[in-house]
Formats: sequence, structure tokens, C-alpha cells
Amino acid sequence: MDDFAARCAAAAAEAQAAFAAAADAETVERLRIQYLGRNGIESALAAAFAAASPSEKKQFGPAYNHARQAMRQAWEQARQRVSTQAAEEPIDVTLPPRWRRTGSIHPLSRLADDIEAVFTAMGYECVEGPHVELDEYNFGRLNIPADHPARDHQDSLWLADGLRLLRTHTSSVQARVYAEVGEGRRRPPFRCVAIGRVFRNDAIDATHDVSFTQVEGFVVDRDITVAHLVGVLRTMLSAVLDRDDVEIRLRPSYFPFVEPGFEVDVRLLREPPASRLSRWMELLGCGLIHPRVLAAGAAELAEWSGFAFGMGLERLAMLRHHITDIRIFHGGDLRSLRQFA
Ligand code: PHE
Repeated sequence: MDDFAARCAAAAAEAQAAFAAAADAETVERLRIQYLGRNGIESALAAAFAAASPSEKKQFGPAYNHARQAMRQAWEQARQRVSTQAAEEPIDVTLPPRWRRTGSIHPLSRLADDIEAVFTAMGYECVEGPHVELDEYNFGRLNIPADHPARDHQDSLWLADGLRLLRTHTSSVQARVYAEVGEGRRRPPFRCVAIGRVFRNDAIDATHDVSFTQVEGFVVDRDITVAHLVGVLRTMLSAVLDRDDVEIRLRPSYFPFVEPGFEVDVRLLREPPASRLSRWMELLGCGLIHPRVLAAGAAELAEWSGFAFGMGLERLAMLRHHITDIRIFHGGDLRSLRQFA
């Protein structure tokens, strides 16, 4: 206990110097813990003092109290000093704010969602198929003959085994759904919609990409006619483009998996004559499902009828958002995509 007074004086002097040198709030807090904290120097002195005899307490009391007060005062002063410092620091109101960007849905995903909503409201089921597809589903069961140009490596992207390719259209999903009937996993009638990526061995330019998105719609039921098909296309386009002036035109065309087959053009009647949307624009292929395609899935399907259509989603999204270059959809340049947030 002999050196207790010296210990007190040393602790006080040390604390005063340390607090006086502290330049910021963190240092002040660290020192507070070191000197005044529960396991700090002040506590150690208090413990020693408490253990002293009554006469020693009398002798060392003033030194002990003085040290405690000095340490607390040093802390108090340092704390005030650093807090006024922080308040006086100038605020640079010209600093640019840190942006918090809100994410956004890709325009194609949004269109896909809208189309699915229109079709599910009409009682359609959403179905899908694989990107890597067998020749059988992409071509064979769709009545596409072996010498058809689409089977050529010039037009399609084949895997090295020569049996599989990246599907060239979503009509492959039709073939898969009809096969489900043959396997006893599905019974007609049914209405389906399939949206997904397709791949073609195309040169890339403003209107072509190696990959694009298609929506395939198909219905198998009794006594289906072209009028049903036209009604569904009109409903879909009016809803998705949010217009009541959508005009469509059917031109006879050839697809091996439909008979008769059509290409459909669209224009908007109330657009000003200078607008691209006032002129006919080719939008999709469609027709009544070829009986051979139904029969390839299941013999019993040959007694049914149906329609099918396949449409490029990018085309429609370009129409919807006045986009002139198809490459922005998959180009990965967020600046162009953010415009449609
Ligand atoms: N699969 C055709 C294409 O990709 C489009 C289509 C689908 C045509 C369904 C008719 C019926 O070009």
C-alpha cells in the first residue's frame, strides 16, 4: 500500500496527457474504457483502496479522490473538444449524392409476363421445353422433312453429336405436349402457351440476333377454325399493345406443321401516317395444326383440330417501346435497358 499515492498521481497524469492528445471520438472512447471502464485503471485503484485498513484509507483518501476527479475531468474535456470539432466540420453541399439504383424488369420479361397474363385469363396453361432439343421434337414430329433448309448447319446451331441442337423455334414445345398425349399423360382438349429462347445461326445486325425469344400459343379442341385463331391474336395484341386500333392481316404462307398456314402483319390505325406503326409490319406465323403433327404425338389426336402461332417477342417489344435495334435486348448494356425501367 506504500506506493498507493504515487500510483494515483501517475495514473492521473497519464490519463490527462492521453486524453489531451486524443484527436477524435473513437480515441476518446478507447481511453475512457482504458482508464474509467469496468476493468480500467480507476477500478484497479478503487479495489486497492477498498482493501486498505481504516487508517490507510484516511491517509490515502485525498490522493485517491484527486486522481479519480482528474481522470474524469480529462475525459469530460476531451469529449467536449472532439464533439464540437465534428459539429464545426464544413458540409460540402456540392458533393454528388450516392445513387441507390432501383432495379428494373427487363422489357422482354415484362412483355412475357403480360402475354402470360392475357393467355392465362383465357384459360391457357403455361408450358415449357428445353433449349437443347432433339432433332425429333424440333423437326421430325413437326412434319419438317429431312431436306428442309432449317435442318442445315447454316441455319441451326447443332451439338457435336449431330442429334441435338439449340431449338430453332418454340414449336418444339408443341411436339412435346402432343407426345404427352401419346404417353397417356395428357388428354385433349387443351390450350397452352410457351415463352422462351430460340437460337438461329444468323448473322447479327439491327434486326437479327443469334438468340431471340418466341411465344408459342396452341389450342387443341373440336372444330377449331381460323376464326378462333384470329380472335385470339387480336385479343393478345390489343391487350399487350394496350390499343383498340390494332388491325391484323393474314397472308397465306408455308410452315410444314400447319395447314393452312399464314403470316400475320399488324398495324395501328390511329397512328399518324409518318409513324412506322401505321404501316404493315410482319409479326408472326400461324395456322391450323397439321393433322400429321397431331398424329405424330398420339393416334387419337388425329381426330381433333387445333391452331398454333409463333411470334418473336423482340419484334413486339420493339413496337411497344419504339426500339430500333434488337441488339439492346441481349447486349448487356444496362444504360439502354434502364430506359425501360
Ligand atoms: N415456328 C415458326 C417460326 O419460328 C412460327 C410458327 C409457329 C408458325 C406456329 C406457324 C405455327 O417461324
